[in-house]
Amino acid sequence: MNVADRVDDFIPRLESAAGATETALDALLAPAGLEGEISRPARLLEAMRYATLGGGKRLRPFLVIEAARLFGVTGDGPLRTACALEMIHCYSLVHDDLPAMDDDDLRRGRPTAHKAFDEATAILAGDGLLTYAFDVLADPATHADPAVRAALVLALARAAGLGGMVGGQALDLAAETAGRPLTQDEILTLQAMKTGALLRFAVDAGAILGKADAAKARALSRYGSALGAAFQVADDILDAAGDTAALGKRAGKDAERGKATLVGLLGLDAARARRDSLVEEAIAALDETGLGAATGTLKEAARFVAWRNN
Ligand code: IPE
Ligand code: IPE
Ligand code: MG
Ligand code: MG
Ligand code: MG
Repeated sequence: MNVADRVDDFIPRLESAAGATETALDALLAPAGLEGEISRPARLLEAMRYATLGGGKRLRPFLVIEAARLFGVTGDGPLRTACALEMIHCYSLVHDDLPAMDDDDLRRGRPTAHKAFDEATAILAGDGLLTYAFDVLADPATHADPAVRAALVLALARAAGLGGMVGGQALDLAAETAGRPLTQDEILTLQAMKTGALLRFAVDAGAILGKADAAKARALSRYGSALGAAFQVADDILDAAGDTAALGKRAGKDAERGKATLVGLLGLDAARARRDSLVEEAIAALDETGLGAATGTLKEAARFVAWRNN
């Protein structure tokens, strides 16, 4: 690790992205509806707000905003894209916690959505957030150029759906009852899908908003993939070695449920080594963008992802 390239603006920038995202999500999820909507049922809206506001690291919004900044794009476009991605992420958490999936009762230090409301409301709140995300991206307020909006919609749909997050969740659940341990390659594919795809979208979105040239966009995308892989290994390590109070979600669940993780397959030490080499890979990919010192904050983000405690 090169100490010389450490930057100290990561935490302030993460906090600033988190604050802006919270304010923007709060406004998007206001009782007043948008043109063409008929009404916003109060209990459903309350559940969507519960699932979305007042918690989370807001890492994905931060990545969208910082990736767009690399290409000189700031303001509402990145912020709205960040909100759309966070809506998908929060919906994925609500559904992930359902009794039919991971059956968790604690999320972000509070009861999970289906505990605070009820299962049907939690399912619908997830559906509502999933749909709203694409509404936000397709809205001209996100970008004046319809081609940019369409590219964002396409990239997020690809990342979130069958061949991305949703597919990865299916593989994750299937592994619980597969009757044999998954191979390392199978685990890497599962994790690239369930977690990596949305994290990679975050930085791809910055490149789309900034109309980045193809070589820079590809290098940034490689950073997103490595960061995404590091993120899920870190999540699995925290599940095995972290504690519930710091995590705000129950620790020790993966082994209990028979989840396919690198920690389960290789052990904690080997998982930590892999996480650390993924951080190096992410940082090397940023160097390949040719964007120089401007990438310092994203390098620090890769270290944060790996070494966080929640
Ligand atoms: C948790 O994601 C779910 C996974 C993809 C492993 P985060 O750790 O980013 O959750 P929040 O948003 O900070 O709560
Ligand atoms: C969840 O992975 C990934 C998604 C929600 C898409 P996990 O099941 O490991 O996430 P946590 O540990 O419950 O946050
Ligand atoms: Mg899960
Ligand atoms: Mg889970
Ligand atoms: Mg987990």
